[in-house]
Amino acid sequence: MENNNIDWANLDFGYIKTDYRYVCNFKDGAWDEGGLTTDDKVVISECAGVLQYAQTVFEGMKAYTTEDGRIVTFRPDLNAERMENSARRLEMPVFPQDRFIDAVVQTVKANAAYVPPFGSGATLYIRPFMFGSNPVIGVKPADDYQFRVFTTPVGPYFKGGVKPITIRVSDFDRAAPNGTGHIKAGLNYAMSLYAIMDAHRQGFDENMYLDPGTHTKVEETGGANFLFVTKDGKVVTPKSNSILPSITRRSLVYVAKEYLGLEVEEREVYLEEVKDFAECGLCGTAAVISPVGKVVDHGKEMCFPSGMTEMGPVIQKL
Ligand code: PLP
Ligand code: COI
Repeated sequence: MENNNIDWANLDFGYIKTDYRYVCNFKDGAWDEGGLTTDDKVVISECAGVLQYAQTVFEGMKAYTTEDGRIVTFRPDLNAERMENSARRLEMPVFPQDRFIDAVVQTVKANAAYVPPFGSGATLYIRPFMFGSNPVIGVKPADDYQFRVFTTPVGPYFKGGVKPITIRVSDFDRAAPNGTGHIKAGLNYAMSLYAIMDAHRQGFDENMYLDPGTHTKVEETGGANFLFVTKDGKVVTPKSNSILPSITRRSLVYVAKEYLGLEVEEREVYLEEVKDFAECGLCGTAAVISPVGKVVDHGKEMCFPSGMTEMGPVIQKL
């Protein structure tokens, strides 16, 4: 298998078709045996549940080449668990967690030529997803579903790689109180599209969303959780039931506590406190840790002491 001489060092976060994807269908109350295919096209009814009422959930994780040449994925068991929670919240059948991991492994193995080499800065992004596939016209869950996994080699999510970004406090919400902010549903991302384009048009890289109930507390961005560092070196990360429970964030909290011996607080973080932090970063599968240099709240600039050229020391260590 050829990888068409991909220029790993200059990849951005985009889609490149790879050779194989995994497909499994749910019909008459059961998942079929599933398997790999080279066909990247999905053919469904014009009235499919996903097209009419956005009944779709997804996951995202990465495969890496290690220094000694093995291919590994990062904690796919947690993605399997999260996808189960997402599916339950949208009244979709659960794709069994052991089969989820098997599907990911099969897809990565089949596309091994597309896993970027160690040290290239690129990775193979893995996208499992599921959608309602049969016609649905009254508002109700579909009866039939398709689960798929595809892969695509990617570079950094934000242009410029690890250069600090500028974000603005958003007046738009990405989630509702008691809504679906805590699951990985396509509808949350549709909801954020106007806000992200508006942020770009105003010259910002991303949005800082506040809690939809009171607009006083920091939630997350459109695709990553926040990590802050206090001036005395404590790591602080927002706790909320309307943000996505990031696997990267949960892993970094462990690393901070157990490997680096840092104090970590997972708690509500008020917007009012942001100006007092020493460092800020966005963490997620796509974002890795992207440093934030500045947060702008309706014209009021909050500049972190770590500045606009370098990552802060604690974020760097993490
Ligand atoms: N928050 C949102 C809204 C996301 O889309 C993502 C990406 O998956 C994250 C946070 C980070 O989660 P994870 O670290 O599990 O990729
Ligand atoms: C991920 O990090 O896997 C995501 O799904 C974020 C998305 C904005 C690309």
